[in-house]
Amino acid sequence: MRPEPFSVAEAMHPAAPACAPGEHPAAPPAAIVIFGASGDLTRRKLIPSLCALDCLGLLDDSTSITGLARSDWSDDDFRREMREAVSEHSRLGPVSDSAWDRFAARLGYVSADFDGVRGYRELAQRLAGGSANRLFYLATAPRFFAGVAERIRSSGLCSDGFARLVVEKPFGHDLASARDLHARLEPVFPEEDIFRIDHYLGKEAVQNLFAVRFANAIFEPLWNRHFIDNVQITVAEDLGVGSRGGYYDDSGALRDVLQNHLLQVLALVAMEPPTTFAAREIRDEKVKALRAIAPFDDDSIRSDVVRGRYGTGEGGAPAYLSEEGVPPESQTETFVAMKLAIDNWRWEGTPFYLRTGKRLARRMTEIVVRFRPAPRTPFAPSEDPLSDHNLLRLRIQPDEGVSLRMLSKVPGASMNLAPVTMDFAYEGSFPTGPPGAYERLLLDSLHGDATLFTRWDEVETAWALLDPVLDAWATGDAPAPADYLPGSWGPEAAAMLVTRDERQWLTG
Ligand code: BG6
Repeated sequence: MRPEPFSVAEAMHPAAPACAPGEHPAAPPAAIVIFGASGDLTRRKLIPSLCALDCLGLLDDSTSITGLARSDWSDDDFRREMREAVSEHSRLGPVSDSAWDRFAARLGYVSADFDGVRGYRELAQRLAGGSANRLFYLATAPRFFAGVAERIRSSGLCSDGFARLVVEKPFGHDLASARDLHARLEPVFPEEDIFRIDHYLGKEAVQNLFAVRFANAIFEPLWNRHFIDNVQITVAEDLGVGSRGGYYDDSGALRDVLQNHLLQVLALVAMEPPTTFAAREIRDEKVKALRAIAPFDDDSIRSDVVRGRYGTGEGGAPAYLSEEGVPPESQTETFVAMKLAIDNWRWEGTPFYLRTGKRLARRMTEIVVRFRPAPRTPFAPSEDPLSDHNLLRLRIQPDEGVSLRMLSKVPGASMNLAPVTMDFAYEGSFPTGPPGAYERLLLDSLHGDATLFTRWDEVETAWALLDPVLDAWATGDAPAPADYLPGSWGPEAAAMLVTRDERQWLTG
């Protein structure tokens, strides 16, 4: 049964900002189990998001949330820790006592190893009598994914309702390890019950790409090589790796962000229009776009891929090599940029430039579509020929929105032109603001809607594209990471990747 949503005044601490009422249908009842419940992801994202869903009346009365991890906590310890986590990380701010009490009653905790049998037995006892629907969330270190999934199945934790596995990234470390993981998951959970999270797909402004492209008649006719000069996608972060140095050094910018978030966004920009908004159709079109990306060879790895690593900045912020947990001989990149060609009729000759990095000039994620200039105009060329292009900017974060740059007449007696911008900002048009990505994805996984999750063939295709780059880096067959200044936009070579094509990065 769906509980009453709290009103904003009831649910929120008086000092908290207003929250949006839930527009989604409430989720079916389920026993949610989080493996890795004492970890960072659970604290920062999962529990605050589940609590927000509860406040919005979107969790069924009988839905329970049980955490399992090694920390030696009781149920009450877990609740206490999670209340702090919600106060600190919920987008809705701290919740009121009554809203918290309702949510806390759903929470339970099992202290156990992921690879022993005791914890699974205890879980089975706790879940007995609750909902037969089970949602297992793997928020553990990736090396536990397959073993946990196998034990879930072998210890009879799946009941006669649905049994779904939500798998965090990274799904594999390269093509071979991703295939190994897939081969172990496949016999225990069918593909339709595996929900591979890429939280970028849960972002409202990423989903808005579907609306911009497929609900507006003015863009789709122009969305091809005839009218688009190039596409740029930037995921920039201003922070360094902080305390995640140990994890990050094993990963690097290419595995951490490019293989998943950036290629997923690229797939949405490049895909063909689906006939319906069904999970299968969307994912079929995405994987076709990913498969059309021209594979790398030795030459293009050298010429079209740039890796970098942040050095020391002003104010004494540590260089990557001095971050905690980073070995001195590390060759891990904190920045990667690449130029991709999509070999199909729509995109032949229109390059896609991708880049991501830590400690860049500012935190921002944006897609810029640069249109070709008008074939001829009766006006004098402007002083800056680069400003003669229309630009469509899709701002994913912060300041979510879309803007279109066009040329306009400057008031006065002469026919002088200047670029102007038409702007749509979420904040102005939808004052409640976008819901958190994890709220959306958790709700979709409870509903069994896989549209915003990555299918195995997408993950495999992305690794297959990048494996040659990783190999070349591992064998030293490609330039080493170039140092860049914190607060810049990456190494000089990243600028050259674009300027040598007589273009420039349009985010910055
Ligand atoms: C995660 C990466 O997937 O995405 C992090 O592991 C990165 O390194 C983060 O900071 C960026 O996500 P967002 O939503 O803050 O852009």
